Amino acid sequence: MKRIAVVMAMSAEASPVLTALSAEAATGVAPLVVRWFTATRHRSEILIALNGRDRRFGVDSIGTEPAALSTYVAIDRFRPDVVISAGTAGGWERAGGAIGDVYVSDGCVVHHDRRIALEGFREYGIGAYPVLPARQMAATLGLKTGIVTTSNSLDENDDDRLMISASGAAVKDMEAAAVAYVCEQMSVPFMALKAITDLVDHPTATADQFNANLSMAAKRLSEKLLEVLDWLIPRERGDMS
Ligand code: ADE
Repeated sequence: MKRIAVVMAMSAEASPVLTALSAEAATGVAPLVVRWFTATRHRSEILIALNGRDRRFGVDSIGTEPAALSTYVAIDRFRPDVVISAGTAGGWERAGGAIGDVYVSDGCVVHHDRRIALEGFREYGIGAYPVLPARQMAATLGLKTGIVTTSNSLDENDDDRLMISASGAAVKDMEAAAVAYVCEQMSVPFMALKAITDLVDHPTATADQFNANLSMAAKRLSEKLLEVLDWLIPRERGDMS
């Protein structure tokens, strides 16, 4: 694969990988929506699309809307062979998750906060967007695999919990389904790579776990993302064996 786009939300999540790739900031690219960094690795072009900083609130633009915009711009202008939604996420002890684990998406990516009790729209709300088959890669690189589920909240309510348990998701984030949605609409292969900062079923508050583990998880993500790039680069689009 000659062109790989990595869509990320928080600059703290991206910082180790930008350093490891010696990525350079690109100028003049939809500055209100994204901050772009480019790098070359084994003669492949790597784009790190950061979802930007909110103009009014001054914080990193986490969540689905910036992720969808960023992914659209990345695909439209960079024409990647594959898009990776990379970042941090919550996991569950009950699903075998541990802080610092890195998961690759498996099966599909879903939403757990879009409940639409109308004929045909229930499935539309959940999404179940396709992901690249990555079990072989996961076994080789020591990644865990699981369904990734997305909402725009760091926490979850009882209705979210019902949808999460129905999907059997092992990883919970705030962007993957939005990135996967755009990829499906634009026929670009997709995968999510997520490092666990917090365990949702642990008694410690999610935000406290997240703050305590963000820097360590971002380093783990960077290490595994480089290995994933090195796995993908020599392969053809559609060949994950
Ligand atoms: N990112 C990191 N931890 C998360 C969680 N528990 N839920 C959603 N996104 C997250």
